[in-house]
Amino acid sequence: MAHLLEMTGVSKAFPGVKALTDVSIFLDKGEVLGIVGENGAGKSTLMKIVAGVYTPDDGELRLEGEAFAPRQPRDSLDAGIIVIHQELSLVPDRSVAENIFLGNLPHDRLGRVRRKALNQHAKTLLARVGLDVAPQTRVRQLGIAQQQLVEIARALSRQARVIVMDEPTATLTTAEQTILFATIRALRSAGVGLVFISHHLEEVFEICDRVVVLRDGAAVEMRPTSEWNETGLIQAMVNRPIDALFPPRHAAIGDVVLAVEGLTSAGHFEDVSLELRAGEVLGLAGLIGAGRTEVLKAIYGALPISGGRVRVQSRDVVIRAPRDAIAAGVALVPEDRKAEGLVLPFSIRSNVAMSTLPRLSWLRTVLAPGRMDRLAEHAVADLRIRASGIGQTVQSLSGGNQQKVVIGRALTTKPRIFLLDEPTRGIDVGAKVEVYRLINALAEQGAAILVVSSDMIELLGLCDRILIMRTGRIAGAVPRAEFSQERIMHFAALG
Ligand SMILES: Nc1ncnc2c1ncn2[C@@H]1O[C@H](COP(=O)(O)OP(=O)(O)OP(=O)(O)O)[C@@H](O)[C@H]1O
Ligand SMILES: [Mg+2]
Repeated sequence: MAHLLEMTGVSKAFPGVKALTDVSIFLDKGEVLGIVGENGAGKSTLMKIVAGVYTPDDGELRLEGEAFAPRQPRDSLDAGIIVIHQELSLVPDRSVAENIFLGNLPHDRLGRVRRKALNQHAKTLLARVGLDVAPQTRVRQLGIAQQQLVEIARALSRQARVIVMDEPTATLTTAEQTILFATIRALRSAGVGLVFISHHLEEVFEICDRVVVLRDGAAVEMRPTSEWNETGLIQAMVNRPIDALFPPRHAAIGDVVLAVEGLTSAGHFEDVSLELRAGEVLGLAGLIGAGRTEVLKAIYGALPISGGRVRVQSRDVVIRAPRDAIAAGVALVPEDRKAEGLVLPFSIRSNVAMSTLPRLSWLRTVLAPGRMDRLAEHAVADLRIRASGIGQTVQSLSGGNQQKVVIGRALTTKPRIFLLDEPTRGIDVGAKVEVYRLINALAEQGAAILVVSSDMIELLGLCDRILIMRTGRIAGAVPRAEFSQERIMHFAALG
């Protein structure tokens, strides 16, 4: 019998990079195929070919045995192929319901949009993905995890034969992930073929029936999940030994460098107090919407506060605006790299140098372009950014490599206090270890690090102490000696 979807000998090159070389994979009805590989391995490119976004240079696609050559996204949609892209594509100023049914809005006989039916139907779909927001809410007001769930609801609104999820869980917490997995299982039982791309290998083991490994644009191995183990999978992905996911840290914990006292931002969070010490890595856990990102922004002076204060103890400075934070040696690595982090059409060079530019001054930048080049080249080498060179535009980098550019840029200001919001979101295992090493090295040099992460394993492996937020308040604190996943989940869910 013919496969649901089959790709044979697919190749695709971009100027300066061969993204895919002779890739052959297949997907059957009622199964979940996992695709794993390092950042830049070609996973998204392969799925963009299925989505009709790119046409392959070589090779062919078959859908239930018939030749299938999508020329544009519409062709794939019409064939029942839904791809939820890694970089989300919602319209920020439209409502949640309108986004779900975009290009597919229910009309009455006079051609007017049937609002009531629209919102009603949207409500049902939102319940299925476990997203508790009104259908009328503007997408702009949602966090990225919530936007991710809207994308998934949109996929459910269509009659899908194939659903591709490109890192759907990168932004989700455990509770939302559980709901998503229940949805995936239901779709699978209904005969849909699903492709699941993720850097969270434990999820790949849990949900996928077969797993294919892409490396440097080639499909190196495809096997049933039962024939893989974690070490084997990592080995196939990175092709070099990785000894420990969390390398040991030898940092002396010193004086308090950052003191947050009774910080409140009306409508976001209340009465948050914490102390961060030199050499310390402090975690901030909690569910989506608990207020973690907002706390980081407020500490940085980027979110208005209605009470309390933030003092950089070591410099005796009170932060009121981002420029105070930068001047006091505080850096923020934001969660939403697209909205706040990067200028996508610019090169790696310009993006990395951006936060140092005011200090370098434009004139000196023009006179000493070598300085910018060196900063960017360091970032590329230290973080193993996969690119054709520092002149490559950030928008043409893979998702994980974009994230590395954001981190590289924060490092150039030589801060002493780091506020990291989901620093390894979308980053492959090999590169994660690099980021952890970097965090360790910074702590060992006396920097203080506050890290928000939805990846519990990461917080447990990395932090000296974890604070847990729940509905805008600090619900608990756990020192390393008492770390356990249950303890932290308990605080996060029940307070
Ligand atoms: N539009 C483009 N122009 C130039 N190069 C591109 C373009 N799209 C992708 N690439 C390059 O193709 C390679 C594969 O990228 P792709 O996005 O498929 O990786 P990925 O496996 O999805 O990585 P990640 O895990 O980081 O999302 C990378 O080297 C990337 O820089
Ligand atoms: Mg990708």
